[in-house]
Amino acid sequence: MPTNNRIVLSSDHSAIELRQAIAAHISVQGWEVVDIGPTTSESTPYPKHGEEAARLVASGDCQLGIIVCGTGQGIMMAANKVKGIRCGVCSDTFSAGMIRQHNNANMLSLGVRVVGEGLALDVVDAFLTASFEGGRHATRVEMIEALEE
Ligand code: RB5
Repeated sequence: MPTNNRIVLSSDHSAIELRQAIAAHISVQGWEVVDIGPTTSESTPYPKHGEEAARLVASGDCQLGIIVCGTGQGIMMAANKVKGIRCGVCSDTFSAGMIRQHNNANMLSLGVRVVGEGLALDVVDAFLTASFEGGRHATRVEMIEALEE
């Protein structure tokens, strides 16, 4: 597992403001933010941005990734097609912690049309402060990884 403090952020056009709020929120926590855009509100397809973020995580360049689209669903589906990525959509803090504790998720997806900024930042905090428990969960994550072969 790569260990650095770099987090890639990406979104589609619908979620630029929330993405920038997340960037500001986590940079003061000491994370090095790699914000790969987009920066204009021109319509741009979420699969492209999910893939770009996922490739930076899969390569080890970034330890974690946070991605945002309207629902969080489409961009998550794209990210999960990249080998080595485990990304979940979360709209609550419990799930955001659990996807790291049990599923060893390396990416979090949010829906800007689903959660407000305050809840989104709490979800981000829950994701970033949790850690993988290993043990029996490691075997299950290995089973997910085996599906990629
Ligand atoms: C964009 O219109 C919208 O489809 C996208 O942000 C997202 O909700 C897809 O899952």
